[in-house]
Amino acid sequence: MYIQCSHKELSILKKIAQAATGLQVPCYLIGGFVRDSVIGRNTKDIDIVCIGDGIALAHAVAELFTPKPMVNYFKNFGTAQIKILDDEIEFVGARKESYVYESRKPQVEAGTLKDDQDRRDFTMNALAISLNQEDFGELLDPFNGIEDIKQKVIKTPLPPAQTFIDDPLRMMRAIRFAAQLNFTIEEKTFDAIGENKERIKIVSGERIADELNKILLCKKPSMGFDLLYKSGLLKIIFPQMVALAGAEYIDGKGHKDNFYHTLQVVDNIAEHTDDLWLRWAAVLHDIAKPATKKFEEGHGWTFHGHEVLGGRMVPKIFAQLKLPQNEKMRFVRKLVELHLRPISLTKENITDSAIRRLLFDAGDDFDSLMALCNADITSKNKQKVKRYLENFEMVRQRCAEVEASDQVRNWQPPITGELIMETFNLPPGRVVGDLKNAIREAILEGDIPNEYEAAFNFMVQKATDLGLFYKA
Ligand code: CTP
Repeated sequence: MYIQCSHKELSILKKIAQAATGLQVPCYLIGGFVRDSVIGRNTKDIDIVCIGDGIALAHAVAELFTPKPMVNYFKNFGTAQIKILDDEIEFVGARKESYVYESRKPQVEAGTLKDDQDRRDFTMNALAISLNQEDFGELLDPFNGIEDIKQKVIKTPLPPAQTFIDDPLRMMRAIRFAAQLNFTIEEKTFDAIGENKERIKIVSGERIADELNKILLCKKPSMGFDLLYKSGLLKIIFPQMVALAGAEYIDGKGHKDNFYHTLQVVDNIAEHTDDLWLRWAAVLHDIAKPATKKFEEGHGWTFHGHEVLGGRMVPKIFAQLKLPQNEKMRFVRKLVELHLRPISLTKENITDSAIRRLLFDAGDDFDSLMALCNADITSKNKQKVKRYLENFEMVRQRCAEVEASDQVRNWQPPITGELIMETFNLPPGRVVGDLKNAIREAILEGDIPNEYEAAFNFMVQKATDLGLFYKA
């Protein structure tokens, strides 16, 4: 066997071979499984291609296992899947495909193994291993995929323009594989991405989002984003991010290139967390800088309010990129809105009330916010970074002290809306909200202690000022 695989996988492959012999259908292991086992990476799905009917082969394979697994199949596509323990096995008949220009959907005809390999995306993904009796385990590598894996290079089997015109999602896949595997994209393959970039528009947003998320989950996501940027794809799929690029100069004063700064922040956060949404918060933290940028005499470049506008941009960008409109989006929005707060505390005399407010506003997301802010400290000046990080560490310590004594992070003020309504015989409405806010503010400011009695007395006083009647 050319590749390394587990005992369990080998026994599955032998059963597939047995079923194929019974049906007299040649069959091969192909695609990601072969690539990943050559690379030594964890493999996921097993893809099988046969010269014949893939659905019939799947049924024959299923018969050889007890209990017999379910066969899910799609007659229109000629594909079938079975699941054996944790392994997903996908069967397809070898195909010769031709694509209709305006669509990703191919017209399919039966073909030979070589036809099938021709129509695959990259040489490393076109590697096949025979599962036939006469040459079980033999590698069929018509495009030198093994050599490309050794050279860590991504190439298409056919001229790249054809491969990308056939299925433009492959342009994103090329970049995603480069970022995941730390491979380079062969020059003419990369040029073909630039030349065919407009074709990405026929790909569904969901598939693009899927690739973007995979890029963002890489060890060093900047590599993928930079390739997306340089190929011109990013401008089409996510223009707001491209708007961050470049530095403007007035009176010899420039600002930093916010695109590369953002990439640095994303790489920094990636060292600390695999949380996709925290990584998205890093991508989006400065997204409103271009829209808020001003040159102010005597001050230089400012981006006032970019955190507020950035927060407002998050739902729209999530919708545009087909990312969820749920609590994940709200988490990203919150982090973008709050991302300057911890840093701003390093600049002033930090009062307990400022710390309490930060803890209260960040709540459960405090640790994520601090991680984002830490990642946001980038500069070419090492001394500056060191100083910022030290100041930041001080803020972190103060937060820990205040939290230990006041427990504000998951704090609920001692007076509820219901109690306010009951006490003053009020219907739900603005006055109730105003009173509740006033009590919360007084506690956060440290004007009154965080206790029921003090809060109740404060509430009565405030209500009297508002002319509300209270009967003890
Ligand atoms: N494939 C292709 N073009 C695509 C998608 C897939 O040619 N747009 C082929 C490749 O041969 C690929 C195989 O189908 O190896 C299986 O596809 P898929 O499971 O999507 O990708 P993997 O290569 O297994 O990698 P990953 O799971 O990381 O996407």
